[in-house]
Amino acid sequence: MQLISDPAEMRQWSRTQRAAGHTIGLVPTMGFLHEGHLRLIDNARTKADLVVVSVFVNPTQFGPGEDYSTYPRDLERDRELIRDRGGQCVFAPETADMYGSDPVVMVRAGRLADHLCGPHRAGHFDGVLTIVAKLFNVVEPDVAVFGRKDAQQARIIARMVEDLDFPTEVAVAPTVRERDLVAMSSRNTYLTPDERTAARAIPRSLAQAHSLFLEGKTDSASLTASIRSVLGEEPLVDIEYVEAVDPDSLSPVTTADSDTIVALAVRLGKARLIDNIILGAGVEADEVVG
Ligand code: PAF
Repeated sequence: MQLISDPAEMRQWSRTQRAAGHTIGLVPTMGFLHEGHLRLIDNARTKADLVVVSVFVNPTQFGPGEDYSTYPRDLERDRELIRDRGGQCVFAPETADMYGSDPVVMVRAGRLADHLCGPHRAGHFDGVLTIVAKLFNVVEPDVAVFGRKDAQQARIIARMVEDLDFPTEVAVAPTVRERDLVAMSSRNTYLTPDERTAARAIPRSLAQAHSLFLEGKTDSASLTASIRSVLGEEPLVDIEYVEAVDPDSLSPVTTADSDTIVALAVRLGKARLIDNIILGAGVEADEVVG
C-alpha cells in the first residue's frame, strides 16, 4: 500500500493507475478511523478497482473554539486499518501542502448551509466543500464515498459536484451504529462512560419519531417535539437543534413524508454529536456492528 503526502505525487499516482485502466474510489476522512470509515472503504471497493483514503484534519472546517487542535490523530493506526481493509493508497498531506501560506478563494455552500448544522458552525461547510474540491482535483477519483451520518455534508457535496461539473460520482453509504445504536463517530472518544450511556437517548429519540411517523403522525412540529422530549429525559444531553428537512433543499418542512430527513445535534460533555434518520426508513435501516 502506498503512503503519499505530496499532492503532485498523489495526482501522478492516480493518473498512472487510470492510464493502466483502473478506476479510482476516494474515501475522504479526517483519520482516527472507526468501523464506520472502514465500511466506506468496503463500499468504495465495490464501486472502483482501487481505493484511496485521504487522512487530513482540515483546519478550514473548524470554527474558533472548536476541537481542531485536540481532534484525535493516529496516522500509524489508520494506515494499518486501511491496509487491512484492502485500500491501495493513503493520502495524508500536511496542512501546508494543501493550503500553502495564503489561500483566498473558497467554495461556498450558500443556502444549503442555512439550516441544521450550518447556523451553529459558521463557515464549516465552506471549509468542507473547499477541501473536498481540492481532494477531488488532486486524486481525480471516479467515485467518492461519504457517510449518511453527515447527511447535510453529503447533500452539499453532491450539489457541489452537480453545480460545478466535477466528473466524480458521489455515493452515500448508510450510517454505522454500535450495538446500542449510537452512531459511530471519532468524537465518541471524548465521552465519559456516563455520557456514553446518555448518548443512547439519541437513537432512542429518532426511533420514537420513526414509530410515530409509521402510526400516521406527519406534522414535523410533533415529531421534533417527541425527539426533544426523549432527549430531555437525559440531563447530560444539551440539545443544539432538532429539525425535519427536505432531503434535497435541506429546508424545514411542516408536513413530513417518508423521504424527510430528521436530524439533530446535541452537546454531551466535550462532544458535539450529530445523528439523523430518513423518516420512512428509521434507525433500523442503518448498519449495526457486531
Ligand atoms: O466527514 C469528514 O470527515 C470531513 O468533513 C471530510 C469530508 C473528510 C472533509 O474534511
